[in-house]
Amino acid sequence: MSAELDQRAREILRTNDKGGYTVPTDGLYPYQWNWDSVFVALGFATFDESRACREIETLFEVQWDSGFVPHIVFRQDDPGYFPGPSTWNAGGQVPTSGITQPPIAASVIYEMWCRTKTDSIRERLATLFPKVLAWHRWFHRCRISEDTGAVIITHPWESGRDNSPEWTRPTSRVDPTGVGPYQRRDLQHADASMRPLKRDYDRYIALLEYGRDTGWDHSKLATEGPFRMADVGMTMILLRATRDLIRLSKELGRVDIIAELDGYVRSLEQGADYLWDSKAQTYCSRDVISGEASGYVTNASFLYGYAGVGDHGQQAHMARHWDRIGARVQYMLPSQDPDDAGFDHMRYWCGPVWIMMNYILARGFLEIGQQAWAERLRADSHRLIADFGFHEAFSPQTGDGTGGRDFSWTAAMWLAWCGRNTAAPGT
Ligand code: DGY
Repeated sequence: MSAELDQRAREILRTNDKGGYTVPTDGLYPYQWNWDSVFVALGFATFDESRACREIETLFEVQWDSGFVPHIVFRQDDPGYFPGPSTWNAGGQVPTSGITQPPIAASVIYEMWCRTKTDSIRERLATLFPKVLAWHRWFHRCRISEDTGAVIITHPWESGRDNSPEWTRPTSRVDPTGVGPYQRRDLQHADASMRPLKRDYDRYIALLEYGRDTGWDHSKLATEGPFRMADVGMTMILLRATRDLIRLSKELGRVDIIAELDGYVRSLEQGADYLWDSKAQTYCSRDVISGEASGYVTNASFLYGYAGVGDHGQQAHMARHWDRIGARVQYMLPSQDPDDAGFDHMRYWCGPVWIMMNYILARGFLEIGQQAWAERLRADSHRLIADFGFHEAFSPQTGDGTGGRDFSWTAAMWLAWCGRNTAAPGT
């Protein structure tokens, strides 16, 4: 059974491989997506390390001079996707989107570095190092406010958690009346009950047009844009990635930049602290414009272990949320607390379980001594894939697949993590 699923996972990666980059799934997402590709590299690394490196190299080939790395790379035109390259109007020779996505790259590169025994692979990973460093510097220059230390997103899609209920109140202020008629393509590939609502989609396009009209001025978007959220997912992921970049710097003998990176860690730790909501007793995102915390417990709230933050009291509160949510669902960890407003077990980031989130969460839980939680995430992820298939995401209540099928990062996570019979990711 496991061997068959291993084979199926490899087939999915090969089919979605368009030559140096992998699409998340045919139809719904026909281009290269930033954090998808980086997770996918971990899957390739289990059977073809060179191809794994290539996945990350092609992503960084389109890095802008500022260090910014876009969330979509449009290498060929595909009329089946909206908003495509002409709507974004961004990038250089290869068109791209104008927003970014969670910076998971440093952590994955460091993981690949630790796993490989091959000098030529290590050389290629070392070549990526300055590029990743430039991306982290871009975050600190353009997206981290000195007073809070948290990462500001300027479009819900930057978070990767596109339609999380965390964005509902802040996007309600965005005026979509200037948006002309457009045709959604995602609904041709997936059922409307699994995708963002029209109300939200109109605002995604309004924000895209606002960014495009600034000429993708990233600093301006973060200081004047109509949607500015201090995102708990981005902040935790960048913090972890910076710790991994420090580990990598030491491996590469780049001690000259450790003080700079230590400064980034301190600032992001302060950012994580700012995102603790003492009313809801959870980590969550905060609206920079209104100052209001979402108050929601999401799967990103639990990234505190992965990021290495949280005092004893904060961890105890999160443990209570874990126990409460664990008793409410069949499969952990839902992207939205079933007891919070906006929960919808099949709708994209309003409730479904995401396997690559489970993977990074499990890594963090092992590091903070929550072995049982890590093992539950691995076992639940294993069951979801074995019983329902390689879907984009899954209902935490029924296990049914939601979104796209034959999904690259789900296949990659099977190969790199939950298809194995060990609680320890990366061993
Ligand atoms: C989409 O088109 O829904 C994507 O998630 C944007 O990144």
